[in-house]
Order: sequence, then structure tokens, then C-alpha cells
Amino acid sequence: MTEAPKTRDANGLPDFQVVAPTVEDLELAGRVLRKGGLVAFPTETVYGLGADATNDLAVANIFKAKDRPEFNPLIVHVQDEAQASEFAEFNDQAQALAHAFWPGALTLVLKRKADSKLSLMTTAGLDTVAVRVPAHPVAQALLTSSGVPIAAPSANRSGYVSPTLAIHVLMQFKDGQGVNLIIDGGACQVGLESTIVDVSGDTPTLLRPGGVSVEDIEAVVGPLAVHASEDVIAPGQLKSHYAPSIPLRINVSPEDREKGETLLTFGPDMPRRAAMNLSTSGDLSEAAANLFIMLRALDMPGIRGIAVVPIPEEGLGRAINDRLRRASAGTVTGGPPKASDPIGNIEI
Ligand code: TXA
Ligand code: MG
Repeated sequence: MTEAPKTRDANGLPDFQVVAPTVEDLELAGRVLRKGGLVAFPTETVYGLGADATNDLAVANIFKAKDRPEFNPLIVHVQDEAQASEFAEFNDQAQALAHAFWPGALTLVLKRKADSKLSLMTTAGLDTVAVRVPAHPVAQALLTSSGVPIAAPSANRSGYVSPTLAIHVLMQFKDGQGVNLIIDGGACQVGLESTIVDVSGDTPTLLRPGGVSVEDIEAVVGPLAVHASEDVIAPGQLKSHYAPSIPLRINVSPEDREKGETLLTFGPDMPRRAAMNLSTSGDLSEAAANLFIMLRALDMPGIRGIAVVPIPEEGLGRAINDRLRRASAGTVTGGPPKASDPIGNIEI
């Protein structure tokens, strides 16, 4: 992607532009965050839209940029456990999970320290905080250059699929919407959002399946409870508008494809005429990495709907099925969401 000239907005921050993760531009991005600007950056899961997690106004601008109808709590990204413990409390289970999976695609919901400097916008006033140490070298470099904890939801407008390429972010924020920089770090390796586990209470509870499998987490802390309630604390767990703009059906056998629908398949022995296959070898990690890219690619005029074949409900397949169920539950009509779209108040 070519670099645009570094023009400035009214606050002296760079105007919306895509940059490469050079040492110079990572320094610039760090300064932008410290000054209260917004930087979209790659993580190993999906691209995040970051702001200084201690700056109320900066975090409020994330919600504005995303058109997020409600102030949901955000994940705070930090360099390591030591930085996280400046504002969050780790019990034994939290420590065991952090040691096993950080840096990586696991978010822990922890008790927030009372004297924490985190913005109340970041935690939506809760006494817990969601924290993650990203493994992506560009995310780590940005954390180093900014020197601040970074609050970042996925870098999509509210209601649309998470971005796994810088171009996806660019397409979502066509008019800038207050985003200062997008750091292009290539494709996200995992391709699905992080797994969220609440370890703030006595029983570790799965709030959202994601890039680390439930099986791997249970091998460290034993069986996870699943948050079953359809309200409050786990917005990421609810059915939501989180969807391509055309209808999506799940668990469809190839022979049951309807006229005008295109097939999204998985594994060998699939009809060759299928438009796209998430993983011809049946590898769930590869399927996860391809999921959002393929959903976007199939979300085109002329295609009436997407029919997805059954995906095994194991390992990363659980997270893939979770995202597909949401996409099939709420289809936003008329392309990526606009401010006027009647979107739900639930966001993942
Ligand atoms: O992979 C990811 O997790 C990406 C990258 C950028 O790190 N981030 C991401 O953020 O998916 P977001 O905002 O799209 O999803 C965060 C989820 C939301 O459903 C939010 O409600 C939940 O985390 N969450 C945040 N803080 C929480 C808390 N204290 N208790 C319960 N849920 C929380
Ligand atoms: Mg999201």
C-alpha cells in the first residue's frame, strides 16, 4: 500500500493514512496514541482500533469512529503480565492462564484495581477489566513506542465482521471517522478474535470462544463454566448483528444449496464448483484464518446468500461456529453499516 503524505488534522495529529510498520512510523503511531489519537493496528487475531486506555476522550472517540451504539467495555492490550498487574489483580487461575497463553489470543477478565489509572470509558464503569497481551510483533512494538496500555476493539464499524487485513480497515473507515493511522502489518495469522475467559470470580467462565481453543484452556484450569445468561456481562457472547450484508445459512449440505446461493465449504471431498473452501485439508486453524476474508469476498452484489457446510464443533471449530451463528442470526441489509442502520446493541 502506498503511503499518503502526512497531513495534519486540527489537533496536529496525522490525517487518516495507512503506514508500514517501520521504526519511524511506529514511533509516530506511539506519539499519536500518547496525544489521544486513534491508531488501527494488527494483532495476531484481528486488527484493533486503539486508543490510550487511560484517556477518556480518546477512548470515547473509538466508540464514535465505530458508530458503536453503546459503550461496551473494551479489551486493554498490554506488553506483559507486569504491565497488566498495574491495574488488574491476578489470582492463581489467572496467573496459570497468563503463563500458558500470553502472549496470545486469550483475553482474561480480571478484577480491576481500585486505584487503576484506566479510563472509566475503557471498562464501562465495571469493577473488572478485560486484558490481553498480543503476540503480534507490530502490536508489541506499538505498545513499546506508546508506553501506554492500549484499549482496542476490533477495527470494524459496529455490526460488521472483524478486519483481518489493513485494506478491510481502510474500507470500513472511508472518511477517516477520526482514525489517524492504520498500520499495515499484513494478514492476521489467527483470523478470529481472542477467547475471553472471566477469571475474576471463583469459577473460570467462558465468555466468548475464540483463537485459543476451549480444550487447551481446560487443560490448564479444568472445566470452564459457560456464561448462559443472555444479558449484561458478556456482550460478546450474545447473538448479534455481526454479519455480511447478504443472508447466511449454516450447517447446509452442499446438495441443499438454494438457487442464487454460493457455497462456503470445508474439508476435502467438497464439490469443486464451491466458490470457496475454508480449508481443503480440513484444518480448523486454516479455516479460522480464512473465515472473515472469505465472508467478505462472498459478500458481493449478485450473490443472493451464503450457505456454509457444517464445521466440526471442536477446537477452533467452536469459535468458527459461534461467529457463523451470529452472522446467520443478524444480517445487516445494504452493505456495511451506516449510522442510520438499525443495528443491535451487542458487539463482538
Ligand atoms: O482478538 C480480540 O479480542 C480483538 C483484538 C483487537 O484484540 N478485540 C476484540 O475486541 O475483539 P471487541 O471490543 O470487539 O470485543 C471485546 C469483548 C466485547 O464483547 C466486550 O463486551 C467484552 O470483550 N468485554 C470487555 N471487557 C469486559 C469485562 N470487563 N467483562 C466482560 N466482558 C468484557
Ligand atoms: Mg468486535
